[in-house]
Amino acid sequence: MTNGPESSNAGNEVSEAQIAVHWREEEYIQPPASFVAQANASDPAIFERFSEDKFPECFTEYADLLTWDERWHTTLDTSNPPFWNWFVGGRLNASYNCVDRHAEANPDKTAVIWVPELETDEHVHISYGELYRKVNEFAALLRDFAGLKAGDRVTLHMPMVPELPVTMLACARLGVVHSQVFGGFSGNACGTRIADSGSRILITMDGYYRAGDLIDHKVKADEALEEAARQGQEVDKVLVWRRHAGQYASETPMRDGRDYFVDEVLTQYAGATVAPVSMASEDPLFLMYTSGTTGRPKGAQHSTGGYLSYVAGTSKYYQDIHPDDVYWCMADIGWITGHSYIVYGPLALGTTTVIYEGTPNYPDAGRPWRIAEKLGVNIFHTSPTSIRMLRKVGPEEPKKYNYHFKHMTTVGEPIEPEVWRWYHSEVGKGEAAIVDTWWQTETGGFLGSTLPALQPMKAGSCGPGVLGIYPAIYDEDGNDVPAGSGRAGNICIRNPWPGVMQTIWGQPDRFIDVYYRKYNRDPESKDWRDWPYFAGDGALQAADGYIRILGRVDDVINVAGHRLGTKELESAALTVPEVAEAAAVPVIDDIRGRIVEMYVSLKPGIDPAGMDAKVSHAIEVEIGKIARPKNVWIVADMPKTRSGKIMRRVIASVSNFADVGDVTTLANPEVVETIRHHVQSAKVARGELPRELSEAEYEEIAKYGSAE
Ligand code: WTA
Repeated sequence: MTNGPESSNAGNEVSEAQIAVHWREEEYIQPPASFVAQANASDPAIFERFSEDKFPECFTEYADLLTWDERWHTTLDTSNPPFWNWFVGGRLNASYNCVDRHAEANPDKTAVIWVPELETDEHVHISYGELYRKVNEFAALLRDFAGLKAGDRVTLHMPMVPELPVTMLACARLGVVHSQVFGGFSGNACGTRIADSGSRILITMDGYYRAGDLIDHKVKADEALEEAARQGQEVDKVLVWRRHAGQYASETPMRDGRDYFVDEVLTQYAGATVAPVSMASEDPLFLMYTSGTTGRPKGAQHSTGGYLSYVAGTSKYYQDIHPDDVYWCMADIGWITGHSYIVYGPLALGTTTVIYEGTPNYPDAGRPWRIAEKLGVNIFHTSPTSIRMLRKVGPEEPKKYNYHFKHMTTVGEPIEPEVWRWYHSEVGKGEAAIVDTWWQTETGGFLGSTLPALQPMKAGSCGPGVLGIYPAIYDEDGNDVPAGSGRAGNICIRNPWPGVMQTIWGQPDRFIDVYYRKYNRDPESKDWRDWPYFAGDGALQAADGYIRILGRVDDVINVAGHRLGTKELESAALTVPEVAEAAAVPVIDDIRGRIVEMYVSLKPGIDPAGMDAKVSHAIEVEIGKIARPKNVWIVADMPKTRSGKIMRRVIASVSNFADVGDVTTLANPEVVETIRHHVQSAKVARGELPRELSEAEYEEIAKYGSAE
């Protein structure tokens, strides 16, 4: 073992190509004493408080971080598995918990610091007192102008501006279920989610800055409404926040009687207050859509009491948030990470949360570190893709700036140990405790992580299950894959927890099928022990209980931490009328983890010229720019089984320069060599040379698509 924390330097003497080639058992790295001295969880007695025999009552410690209108009588109701209900009988309001109680105690304290992308623009401080005013005024507008009431769903399609948490918290104040769609998603993707959730109000913004440009965003609202209408959902009102007061950043006209500028309507509600609506603990707080095996997105439904308790508790112990910290999570609020660990968790704890509008490397790779220095950020949270990118374009940047992180997070994808070490020594300057948090849209909050002052870090492993979470790794037949066996399996969580989604909106059977069917021991059982949660990730547990997440075992490709369903990509390609068949496969990428390549075959007689661009464009329209494939390969015929199924593992192997394996049983084995020659010679010509794959990557590719 030569990979101690001291041996890493900047990590840049190791080429990108060597990263992640082989994972080995890494050394423990202890958190700095300065961190331990101030940590929220520094007494090992906490492990006893959350030991398995204390389940489910252990989670009252999280619920007690909140202010309840009425205390619950039942901590966990398991009467209708696997639709668990937490803190039943309890009533509370999420907006009250994130805003009012801090505004009362500490009105001048900064709740949000917003950093606009243009560096010449001043950042904006919003105190808890101001947040209270903004949330109340907008809640009054939602209630009285938009006619929204508790239980209604409303779709948000907003960028990274402070109006987004204001909107979410105003909805929460009324018990209105918000469904924020990532701003980078296309109008069509937004429209599908409007229709699925049955929203009749869309809240959006005219424009925002991305990589230095003011982007027209309102145009997507018009596309979204068209798509929603096609799917049978009419929208009555579009509420448009404006990026610059009094100006309009979009080319698209405002539709009379349908589209309204929020700042204009808000003048009627100046100074209005709205009493927070007392909600039952199990009333839904929001929906967050994510991708799965079929084309239809899944609206993960999160509860008010259980979810808010869970994100408050994990923010306190795992993010180590104290009220006087300046906390910056660089994720987008349009993903679950932003909901839980930019908005709800940090604000429930009354801390200062930083929201940055733009791209991390705009105008250069020093930007994040300048922001950290200027704002005094001491807790920093980002993804492996951002770390890889910042390391590549600005390895020497962090040391130029005088900031000090006590704590850092990596989330969303597996992180290679070499990248982890750069994060630790260069970004963290060796002064920060790091948590690698493994979790999902569906889980509301962290599942796997080290407790930062009490469990040492291990590069590339997220750590054991978090407090009150009992993971297990099962093989296909449901047998335990023991820790330390060196074998991978499907990671499951044996018990329910307060942050877990309640259901998939409108698809309760799919909820059971996808997450619980596989390892359920008895469909009639009311005992939670018979209902392990199937996470859909492959994982390996070391003898010390630390878990290495290998990646998805279903038809989901994790691109830069964003989940894209192969079926969604393929259906998008099939909207091009000339396309006969489409298949999406993952390609290992040094920066973005995985990227997408598409294979398409065309209908007879179609000229292939320009078809690749057409397919890329269709994917951008249907899903968004983040899904744009690296390459679209037009092939005469797809490799298929005798029953006509496209062999995704074969084309995935071709795209990754891996061994295609046994193809003799295919209906058309002869096409494989033609495709291989065509694709690989084009890739070589474009300089898209492969690097050696790790064993885990090799296996992922060799098995790709066989889960169907
Ligand atoms: C992956 C993001 C390795 C995993 C919070 C999971 C990770 C999917 C990690 C969920 C991590 C998330 N290490 N892999 N620390 N965190 N993943 O729903 O495959 O956008 O199933 O939630 O990301 O992605 P989602």
